[in-house]
Amino acid sequence: MNTPNIVAISTSLADASRSRVAASVVADELKTLGAEVSTIDLHASPLAGYPHADEDPAIETYQEQVRAADGLLLAFPIYNWGESGQTRDFLAYVLDKETMQNKVALLVAGCSTKSSFLAPMSVGRTLQAEIGAVVIGPGILACGDDVDREQGTVVDGLKQRLQHGAKLLHAFSSVEI
Ligand SMILES: Cc1cc2nc3c(=O)[nH]c(=O)nc-3n(C[C@H](O)[C@H](O)[C@H](O)COP(=O)(O)O)c2cc1C
Repeated sequence: MNTPNIVAISTSLADASRSRVAASVVADELKTLGAEVSTIDLHASPLAGYPHADEDPAIETYQEQVRAADGLLLAFPIYNWGESGQTRDFLAYVLDKETMQNKVALLVAGCSTKSSFLAPMSVGRTLQAEIGAVVIGPGILACGDDVDREQGTVVDGLKQRLQHGAKLLHAFSSVEI
C-alpha cells in the first residue's frame, strides 16, 4: 500500500457551500488516514467557462495536479437535477483519459432535497464512460439541513457517510496495480 495523493476539487461558486463543507470533512478524514491532500477550489479561482476555458492558464495547472494524483474527490452543486456549469466545464477541460484513466473518484453533491439522489450520476457516468475513471458508489448527498453552511458543520449521519467515503477513497487509491 502506498501513501495516496488525493486531489480534493470543489466546484461550487457560492460563498457558503454545502458541498465545500462536506468536502472538507472528507479531506480531514483522508489526512487522518495518512493521505496527502491537495485542493482545487473554484470558488477561490473560478474557471473561465466555455467558450473561453481553452485560454485559461489554470487548466494546465489543474491537469498537472490531477495527473500527479492517485485519486480524486469531486464536490459539486446540483442545479436543476444535474451538476453545475463549472463542474461540467471542469470535466470537459481538465479531466481526460490521460490524466484520469483507472483513477478512483468519490463524488459529493450539494443539494437542497434528497430527491436529487440520481442527479450526481451524470457526473459518474461521464467519469466512467468517457474518462475511464473508477467511481465509488453513486455519490454522497450533502443536502438541506444536514449541512450548516455558515458554521461549516454537518450532522452526525452525514459525517459518518463522508468519513466512510474517505476510507474507501483512501483504500482504493492506495492500491498499486
Ligand atoms: C438554479 C438552482 C437550481 C437548483 N436545483 C436544485 C435541484 O435540482 N435539486 C436540489 O436538490 N437542489 C437544487 N438547488 C439547490 C442547490 O443544490 C443547493 O443550494 C446546494 O446547496 C448547492 O450546492 P453548494 O451549496 O455546494 O453550492 C438549486 C439551486 C439553484 C440556485
